[in-house]
Amino acid sequence: MAADKSSKTSATGALTKETLVDLLNQDLEREFQAVIGYVNYSQVLKGAAYMNIAGELEKHAHEELAHALKLSFWIDFLGGMPAVTNKPVKTSEKAEQMLRFDLENEKETIRNYRRRIRQAEELSQFALSEDLREILRDESDHLNALATALGEDTPDPGIAD
Ligand SMILES: [Fe+2]
Ligand SMILES: [Fe+2]
Repeated sequence: MAADKSSKTSATGALTKETLVDLLNQDLEREFQAVIGYVNYSQVLKGAAYMNIAGELEKHAHEELAHALKLSFWIDFLGGMPAVTNKPVKTSEKAEQMLRFDLENEKETIRNYRRRIRQAEELSQFALSEDLREILRDESDHLNALATALGEDTPDPGIAD
């Protein structure tokens, strides 16, 4: 019997390649969300206090695009079709609110990549997990930059189920 693509596991309870591809496509939608968010916020953010972080957000935009390209490579490599849609982007007129949206998105992204690395290794996709680790390092930098801009300690996002 063919594995049910809507479930996370095959009939035997093991993670399947198809499910990993579906999950990577959700990661890709989060990367597109991040590209749009950072492109917008880096240009819209106003106020002397935020000029440093605006430059930083512009750098993030480039890094998120690089992540989207890397994920698309892997999704295609694993036999899937890379997503062409993004998760919804929240906007705000308030600088602090914008940074807060970014921070929450980065936490969600990190939670998911931590899980994805384990799942890639479960399927012996070690080169993929290596690339995911590099992406995760960037996301950790992004989270740290946003927390610092908000004057807060960097939170620990945990790991997705
Ligand atoms: Fe990213
Ligand atoms: Fe990020």
